[in-house]
Order: sequence, then structure tokens, then C-alpha cells
Amino acid sequence: MRILESPEELILWRKSQNQDLEIGFVPTMGALHAGHESLIETARKHTDLVVVSIFVNPTQFNQTSDYEKYPITTRADLAICEKHRVDAVFLPKFKDMLYPDQYHFKMTEDSLSKILCGAHRPGHFDGVLSIVMKLFLLVRPTHAFFGEKDFQQLTLIQGMVQAYFLPIEIVPCPTLREPSGLAMSSRNVRLTEQDRLELAPKIYETLKSATTAANATETLSTLGFRVEYCEDHAFFGKRRRLIAAWLGSGANEVRLIDNISLGEAP
Ligand code: PAF
Repeated sequence: MRILESPEELILWRKSQNQDLEIGFVPTMGALHAGHESLIETARKHTDLVVVSIFVNPTQFNQTSDYEKYPITTRADLAICEKHRVDAVFLPKFKDMLYPDQYHFKMTEDSLSKILCGAHRPGHFDGVLSIVMKLFLLVRPTHAFFGEKDFQQLTLIQGMVQAYFLPIEIVPCPTLREPSGLAMSSRNVRLTEQDRLELAPKIYETLKSATTAANATETLSTLGFRVEYCEDHAFFGKRRRLIAAWLGSGANEVRLIDNISLGEAP
């Protein structure tokens, strides 16, 4: 497994590979868990070479405290990549990515990125789309793998690829869940054991059982969640219910997101 620590090293490595091979790309911010492992495994099955990037991207955090608390587990992440026979890990340094241009150039979407998570995290999706575009241009994958847990992110990236004629197939991968139903996330490690086992799984349970998004909000608020939003939307003719809710208190409050399919739009 090659560990590539700068854009220059990555570009050289990419040029040295057979250009006819299919390259599967899994962009991550590290703190890899079973959800990432399933993305890597799917990439392994679909493509000839697998590249994983690990970069905690500050521009997508709208609160410095959230960025600072983001778990960094590089050694364990590399072991996971090794286990899944990843061909190359791109592990750039902050200064190499952010930014030769000081983030004066950015990708902006002005519709879907302004609702749901975007309405509550100003600039978040500009940060995501900008870093993903940079990574796509460096890695030049044929396929890129994204989890459906971040459904709004996935939809925006699909839109960006279409809008800019990028020759990349975006492969959506189903959300992986803990046995309790809680969607796997790098943030779950910040929950207390009790919240992780007892309360946090109520998000998924309630998304499925509530008749409306408003009912889900009410149920979860009564249980002690601070619901940021819970809304139903149609994406490409398919309805989904999406939620962001906070659990815990004070500096230990953790933001969790999830979504479920509601079937075909009428
Ligand atoms: O989903 C993530 O982990 C991040 O938003 C991504 C796509 C790696 C961009 O930093």
C-alpha cells in the first residue's frame, strides 16, 4: 500500500499506473469505521485500484470547536486500509490542500446546498464541494463511493459531477448501522455509552415509525433531542425523510444525521 503525502506524490503515482485501469476512490476524513470499510470493500469489488484519501477538511466545519473535536486516528485508519488491500492512501498536509489559493476559489451550489444541513451550517457544502473537486482532479478516479447517510452531500456531489462533465461514476452505498439501528458515524464515539445504546437509536426508529416529519420532531424532542431539522423532500422522483438532531449537553452535545427512503414521489 502506497502512502502519498502530497499532491505531487499522488500525481506521480497516478501517472505511473496503467491509464486503462478503473480507479475507485473513497474520500474520507479518517476516523474510519465499518461504514467506511464497506465503501472500501464496494470499491474493491467494482474497480481495479482503490485510493482512499484521509483529510479532515476545516472549510466544511462551520464551528471551530467541532473541527477541533474531530477524532484523528491515522494509525488505526492505515491499518484498516491495509486490511482491505487499498492500493494508495492520500494523506495530504493541511498546507498543501488549504490552500495554495487561500480558499479564494470555491465551488458553490445555490439551491439544494442552502436547505437542510446547509441552512444550519453556512458554508458547509461549499467546503465539501471544493475539497471533493480538488480531490477528484488529483486522483482522477473512474468511480467514487459515497454513503447514503450523507444523502444531501451525495446528491450535491452527483449534481457537481453532472454540471462539470466530470467522467466519474458516483456510486451511492447504503447506510451501515450499528445493531441498535444507529447510523454509523465517526461522531458516535463522542456519545456516552448510554446515549449511544439507548437514545441515539431512537432517531432511526422514529424516522421509520412517525407518520410525518413534524411527528418525528415532536417525539424526539420529548425524548430530549434538540432537533435541528426533520423534513421530507423529493430527490430525483424519490422521497426521503432527513434529520439532524443533537444529543447530549453543553460542550459534549453531538450532532447526528440520518435519513430514510419514503418510496417513489407521487
Ligand atoms: O463525507 C465526508 O467524510 C466528507 O464530507 C468528505 C466527502 C470526505 C469531504 O471532506
